[in-house]
Amino acid sequence: MLLMLAPALMMAERADYRVIPLPKSVQMDSTQVFTLQSGMGIAYDASDPVMARNAQFLRQWVEELTDLKLKMTPDDKKAAIRLSLGFPADKKAKKAKKGQKAEPLSEQQQEAYLITIDKSGIAVQARENVGLFRAAQTLRKSLQVAQQSSIEFPFGQIADEPRFVYRGAMLDCARHFFPLETLKRYIDVLALHGCNQFHWHLTEDQGWRFEVKALPQLAKEGSVREQTVLGHNTEVYDGQRYGGYYTQADCRELVNYAAERYINIIPEIDLPGHMMGALHVFPNLGCTGGPYPVWPQWGVSRDVLCAGNPETLTFLKTVVGELCDVFPSKFIHIGGDESPRDRWKQCPKCQAKMKELGLQKESQLQTYINHEMEAFLSERGRDMIGWDEVLEGGLTEGGIVMSWRGIKGGIEAAKQHHRVIMSPTTYCYIDYYQLKDRNRQPDAIGGYLPVSQVYSFEPLVPEDLSEDEQKYILGPQVNLWCEYVAYPQHVFYMLLPRLDAISEVQWCRPDQKDFEDFKTRLPRMKKLYDRIGVNYCSGLE
Ligand code: ACM
Ligand code: ZN
Repeated sequence: MLLMLAPALMMAERADYRVIPLPKSVQMDSTQVFTLQSGMGIAYDASDPVMARNAQFLRQWVEELTDLKLKMTPDDKKAAIRLSLGFPADKKAKKAKKGQKAEPLSEQQQEAYLITIDKSGIAVQARENVGLFRAAQTLRKSLQVAQQSSIEFPFGQIADEPRFVYRGAMLDCARHFFPLETLKRYIDVLALHGCNQFHWHLTEDQGWRFEVKALPQLAKEGSVREQTVLGHNTEVYDGQRYGGYYTQADCRELVNYAAERYINIIPEIDLPGHMMGALHVFPNLGCTGGPYPVWPQWGVSRDVLCAGNPETLTFLKTVVGELCDVFPSKFIHIGGDESPRDRWKQCPKCQAKMKELGLQKESQLQTYINHEMEAFLSERGRDMIGWDEVLEGGLTEGGIVMSWRGIKGGIEAAKQHHRVIMSPTTYCYIDYYQLKDRNRQPDAIGGYLPVSQVYSFEPLVPEDLSEDEQKYILGPQVNLWCEYVAYPQHVFYMLLPRLDAISEVQWCRPDQKDFEDFKTRLPRMKKLYDRIGVNYCSGLE
């Protein structure tokens, strides 16, 4: 047995640069290879601690997938792998345009990288450290997962940069609470796919999960529900208290962890609806005065924050003020979805507020709150994101729309010159089933969103938007709501491989996309998931 295995172990595996998401340009000459072997070095600029960290990531990833042990050899010009900053194209452009002012680079261009493989080894160049990180991820994904102490890298060149500036994924940690370790894993997986935004949904009718120091009872009591309904609102409950929240220290730890992986965290406090967690603790902020339970069932509560009570805005500004202290993100999400008007119609305070402001419709009360919050955020140098409902009463200039009820809201917003994130249910709701046969997968909220459907998304909708209007589409995002997702294994089962599909929507030009080709590149990703221990759905439709 050993004799039969030995030759296979000795044969070097070959790297393949056609990874997910597919780089912009891959040239490969399979007739010549550079052989990377244990003991060889990774060079980087020793005076740059961030580059050193990126070099360490690469070393760890190679070790994780193979038997290859690389050495850290800072400033060694002869090392097998050499990381450096400075882009050959920029030097050329500078020479050609002597004396002229250079065009500012887009954020995507700042993420660009170039990998050149020849007989001297693997040279990795980028404008910024983020590009070196992206390049290291590409090299990681190009490896075959195998016991091997040498790898053949075909000669060639990979030149890459992302298509969209915004490449996001959302996780609902309010319907179910996930430990920080799971969130770090989630961020690792996003970074593996070139994502740069993690949208963190933190508050809900079923639990408030963000610690607010000025309001200590809020997370302590608002995060706990007495029990949870079984299945799809069956009226049968599990009888188990359920809770959990993130301290500000937890949040800061995650922000730093994500930043090292070039991911920004956008926190969301969903207002003025989806607020039963907070109303349970502060019933005076509701129109009826409560009492309000933290919801044990799913759905949309008719009880929302009272728009006519001045304490509501004081509360929101306290919460969002602390949110801004903890999260450095330029973008802050204020939710705004699914906020019924029933209570506002009946509430004397809300009606008096409408009179005072000269408003005709209850929906304008939400606009009034949004504008207050947008101004508050703007004073702190932040931009407000809201679900597409925020368009209804008119959005002020800097507001960003997250289009979820289809792409209509996104199109309308782009036409009004608002920035847009596209996450329509039809392509981006990964809480839906991913296989036709419901018996082959865990219970989900409903719907059907197979990998192929995610892959087919074109966020710029050129048939509806002019070239100028398309510039307002920042990029696409997938959303994972977690009413029916209670455990980490299940999170990754829902995420993968649909994140692979959206990553090509986020990263690749439309003419590069080919679902049949994508399917041939997926098995290597699955081996990587197996090796790093993240779950995925093995079916593919
Ligand atoms: C949403 O799915 N309610 C934004
Ligand atoms: Zn009211």
